[in-house]
Amino acid sequence: MKPLIAGNWKENCTIREAIALVSGIKGLVKDSGHADIVICPPFTALRDVSAALKGSSMMLGAQNMFYEEKGAFTGEISPLMLLELGCRFVIVGHSERREYFMETDLAVNRKLKLCLKNNLTPIMCVGESQQERNEGVTKKVIEREITDGLEGIGKKEIERIVIAYEPVWAIGTGLTATPQQAQEVHAYIRQLLSDMFGESAKKVRILYGGSVKPENTKELMAQKDINGALVGGASLDAGSFAEIVKRSA
Ligand code: PGA
Repeated sequence: MKPLIAGNWKENCTIREAIALVSGIKGLVKDSGHADIVICPPFTALRDVSAALKGSSMMLGAQNMFYEEKGAFTGEISPLMLLELGCRFVIVGHSERREYFMETDLAVNRKLKLCLKNNLTPIMCVGESQQERNEGVTKKVIEREITDGLEGIGKKEIERIVIAYEPVWAIGTGLTATPQQAQEVHAYIRQLLSDMFGESAKKVRILYGGSVKPENTKELMAQKDINGALVGGASLDAGSFAEIVKRSA
């Protein structure tokens, strides 16, 4: 399966900074046909990053989206607006959205469905907190996020969804799940998908996220059920991000 490497810039980069960063990345990943590369800048920089990506095989993604196409929803962004800017991917249900903005599995589910309706590829994030891991309920949490998040999704549709396993305790902390810890959960997600969607489960890309850096990329990517990475901090440095892309081969 072709790996997918996505950079999640979070609440970083003014337009000027975003253009500089994407230009840097563009120059460094020219010969990286082995991977699909997605850049997810903040909303305000999407238009300029989209323009900067012209002529490159890198694709554009958004970090969030609302589950209604239009209406009286102050501050929200519609899939139609994202499509207009050239977005092809949307991160849905990132743990920071769940934690700080009360995003529920139901909201995630509605967002996924609206992405699919509009031909946007959702990158649906799941993962347990440190406390949940300590309490031994990691699988229970993942099962709930997967089954509730994917409720009502069909066998053909699941192939158009990307899943990202991001243990919350590994995000931005410098603590990475060991390749074995990550693979264990990835295999469990694959099993859940297979129970729900049969053979289609084999075609779903499951990314790992949580302090991915050039030094740990190769080992993580060597795991059977890890099909790419969702990169936060290290995606803000063109050299590190390009190196992660290179090492994902
Ligand atoms: P990190 O973030 O790479 O900075 O840990 C990953 C993410 O939140 O997607």
